Amino acid sequence: MKKVLVLTGGGDCPGLNAVIRAVAKRARKEKNWEIYGSIEAFNGVLNEPQEIVRLTSSRTKGIHVKGGTILKTTNKSNPIKFPVTQKDGTVKFEDRSDELVKRLKGFDAVINIGGDGSQKISKVLFDKGIPIIGVPKTIDNDLSATDMTFGFQTAVQIASDAFDKLVTTAESHHRVMIMEVMGRDAGWIALHTAIAGGAEICLIPEIPYDINKLVKKIESRYKKGRGFVNIVIAEGAKPKEGTVTASAGEKGSEHVRLGGVAYQLSKQLKDAGCQAEIRETVLGHVQRGGTPVAFDRILASLFGVKAMELAINGEFGKMVAYKNNSITYVSFEEATRQQNVVKKSSYLVQAAKGLGITFGD
Ligand code: F6P
Repeated sequence: MKKVLVLTGGGDCPGLNAVIRAVAKRARKEKNWEIYGSIEAFNGVLNEPQEIVRLTSSRTKGIHVKGGTILKTTNKSNPIKFPVTQKDGTVKFEDRSDELVKRLKGFDAVINIGGDGSQKISKVLFDKGIPIIGVPKTIDNDLSATDMTFGFQTAVQIASDAFDKLVTTAESHHRVMIMEVMGRDAGWIALHTAIAGGAEICLIPEIPYDINKLVKKIESRYKKGRGFVNIVIAEGAKPKEGTVTASAGEKGSEHVRLGGVAYQLSKQLKDAGCQAEIRETVLGHVQRGGTPVAFDRILASLFGVKAMELAINGEFGKMVAYKNNSITYVSFEEATRQQNVVKKSSYLVQAAKGLGITFGD
């Protein structure tokens, strides 16, 4: 029998379970594959005792509709920069990739479901001889090798539903409502939500904003009396002269945690003379939870089947991708070469401007 190991790494994302189920279903059809899952990304392989579970049909049955990941995940245990707490409480990073490679030797295929960081790990492992295939995931939709990642549509739907609710209360109280969504480097969730929800202002990391232009826009909405304004802002957005709002770094994490930009914007607006009443909402992890929308379940399922088919055919060192309406694959170099960020010149931004949405540029 051949063995395939599946794992999920990085932040969770609606659709992960649909990929796991699709890999398992496609593998079972072959009759000569056993399916395993590593708990909490590569930790399941590195931990002593190991946490590797057999993915039987009773474990994967019906999970495509479930949010999160049955295999658990982490964004704090990159095997190449593995955080090790020292006696004095500080954290040092160690490269455990050789140890991991040894421990993965019994597997005929490894399917690594994860974002940019996870696929960089996939590349290192592939270069060290591991038969590995990547499946892209991120609600941020910031991987350039695929036209879309699963989880993104669900996040946009959740954000749009929340936005619609804020519009009616903004209108009733003639307030300015600021809604903060995820999007560390890429403003896709904010931009799509702004168009879907009919925002007046959309602020994204790729287009630093001029606070005075935002105040002007708000004033123009109030000049005939009781106005209201709905703003959607990505967590990574920043003013032209200023930096991104970061909370403290977390132990063992390679990233600074973002969040709170809605409050910063509220203060900046007041400081710049905005007279309207302002309220802030930070959506946070609500955007990553719950049932994936149908599109994400489908995309995740197609990715899972394709990844397993690559494994069956012995085609490793690739990440599956969605391009020009078909499911294909790219090399790990291509997968991790550059981020997919919003271009100011893109039609989406131009169309948003055509709808009267202000970016503050
Ligand atoms: O990369 C996906 C993402 O949801 C980002 O938008 C966000 O900045 C980050 O993960 C949050 O990570 P955590 O779950 O560790 O707070």
